[in-house]
Amino acid sequence: MVLNILEKAKRKENLCVEEIEALLTISDPDELQALYDAAYYIKEQYVGKIAYFRGLIECSNLCMKDCYYCGIRKSNKNVERFLMDEEEIFKEALWAYEAEYGSCVIQSGERQDTAYIEMIERVVKRIHEASNRELGITLSLGEQTEEVYRRWRKAGASRYLLRIETTNPELYARIHPEDHSMETRKECLAALRRTGYQVGTGVMMGLPGQTMRDLANDILFLKEIDIDMVGMGPYIPHSDTPMGEEVPPYTDEQKKDALTLGLKMIAVTRIVLKDINIAAATALQALEYTGREQGLKCGANVIMPNVTETEFRPKYQLYDNKPCTDENSSMCRGCLSGRISGIGEEVGFNERGDSPHFHKR
Ligand code: 5AD
Ligand code: FES
Repeated sequence: MVLNILEKAKRKENLCVEEIEALLTISDPDELQALYDAAYYIKEQYVGKIAYFRGLIECSNLCMKDCYYCGIRKSNKNVERFLMDEEEIFKEALWAYEAEYGSCVIQSGERQDTAYIEMIERVVKRIHEASNRELGITLSLGEQTEEVYRRWRKAGASRYLLRIETTNPELYARIHPEDHSMETRKECLAALRRTGYQVGTGVMMGLPGQTMRDLANDILFLKEIDIDMVGMGPYIPHSDTPMGEEVPPYTDEQKKDALTLGLKMIAVTRIVLKDINIAAATALQALEYTGREQGLKCGANVIMPNVTETEFRPKYQLYDNKPCTDENSSMCRGCLSGRISGIGEEVGFNERGDSPHFHKR
């Protein structure tokens, strides 16, 4: 059954929700390997064996939102809040450029005040110009108005990441406070498309109460909105959050299962969506040291090495056990380059690595 579905996918036929669910439910080790191999075959055909680096700048943990899973939610009093100044963000982006990363990602908690919006606009413009318009600039700054998205796009940002987190409305409502709305999130994704960004979204997998059918529907949603990039990762409890308070940290067995689910989602997403960019999320490495390269072996083609100054890193803990908090940017560059050659792939240095899907549209 599983092999038939994989053959069908290789023939480029569409898979239905039951077939996607069947792939996500695989537990037999041989079938699992067949799934990963099929995903890698499709990855090689559509995007090649190149891992693109996106230097990740986590520029502030100030957040107006209060998501029940997230370590930097506004009610968490155990977080020391920080906001990098414009110079610091600029310096880190230029570091990524000089380290030959094709692009950078500016990420923070959500803020919608004018001062912040203007600061981002200025720094994006400066990075764009200082890198001779070469460095790709991705933003991951939450929900904003279409006008703000347009201003930042005009300043030089070309990609935007905004995760939908889950497409099951009941589950969405259980993991977010009432002021959140999935409809708003979807409207933001539509506004990003209208304003000309390469648009990325994704989900968390392994949320309490989430089913394989939910995840299969999530993948079909990615296809339906014709997404260019996907960033998704396993949910990992954070002890200072409502969802993490009650549960003990993951056992080794739970970590293994969460990693496998993360890898299966990457593989099936590659099989279904084919020519998009898929990131091997940092959270994979919180579950196992080699988690990110395993993600590449299962179909991902993007890695986001952290380029945030080490002093800020421990303050940006979205989940427990986040890796690379004691390291600096050069250490992560060396470490990840080594891991990528270790699996027989190349790093796409000095290449933006745009989503091929975006350019075909
Ligand atoms: N576990 C895994 N991922 C998380 N994120 C936030 N909190 C957690 C957690 N506890 C993810 C969300 C968000 C992204 C920036 O980090 O998906 O969109
Ligand atoms: Fe940061 Fe290995 S990637 S230390």
